[in-house]
Amino acid sequence: MDIRIIEPLSEEYRQSLELRDNILRKPLGLSLFNENLDNEVNDIHIGVFLDCQIIGILILTPLSPDTVKMRQVAVREDFQGKGIGTRMVRFAEEIAKKQGFKRIVLNARKTAVPFYRKLFYDILSDEFTEVGIPHYKMSKNLSQSI
Ligand SMILES: CC(C)(COP(=O)(O)OP(=O)(O)OC[C@H]1O[C@@H](n2cnc3c(N)ncnc32)[C@H](O)[C@@H]1OP(=O)(O)O)[C@@H](O)C(=O)NCCC(=O)NCCS
Repeated sequence: MDIRIIEPLSEEYRQSLELRDNILRKPLGLSLFNENLDNEVNDIHIGVFLDCQIIGILILTPLSPDTVKMRQVAVREDFQGKGIGTRMVRFAEEIAKKQGFKRIVLNARKTAVPFYRKLFYDILSDEFTEVGIPHYKMSKNLSQSI
């Protein structure tokens, strides 16, 4: 298994779009391909690969010199619950730290809140709706990263 940064607009990026659509949009009756993805070329895309197939994806979007937003966190269904999401988030935290960011923020699906709590993210908001489902704002100060 290999975790690495993938180039926007590459073949690996195309694979990541399929994974994001399958895990994060189709189950909600939505399509990622109806969204405007133009600004994603400025983001940091992190992929997990097994035998050249993408099985995990995570995007970091810089919001300010100090803060980066983690989004589109998804692991292929048949690989969930095996620690891949944890490894991917830790890798992303290291990348964010190396690039000088001090804080990661994210909008967590209610179902994924226990996953982020285990990685020491704090809940910052009341419940709100995004893509039609309940979410919470969460964050982590990178100085507490392990
Ligand atoms: C959420 C997700 C990224 C987690 O990745 P993963 O590889 O399945 O998670 P891990 O195997 O690293 O799990 C780490 C811990 O979090 C827990 N966890 C993971 N997903 C969970 C969930 N949905 N509910 C409760 N606990 C969860 C695991 O049980 C595990 O706990 P343990 O260490 O005590 O065994 C993945 O399950 C996924 O893609 N889910 C569907 C899409 C989604 O909800 N993405 C997040 C959007 S904010």
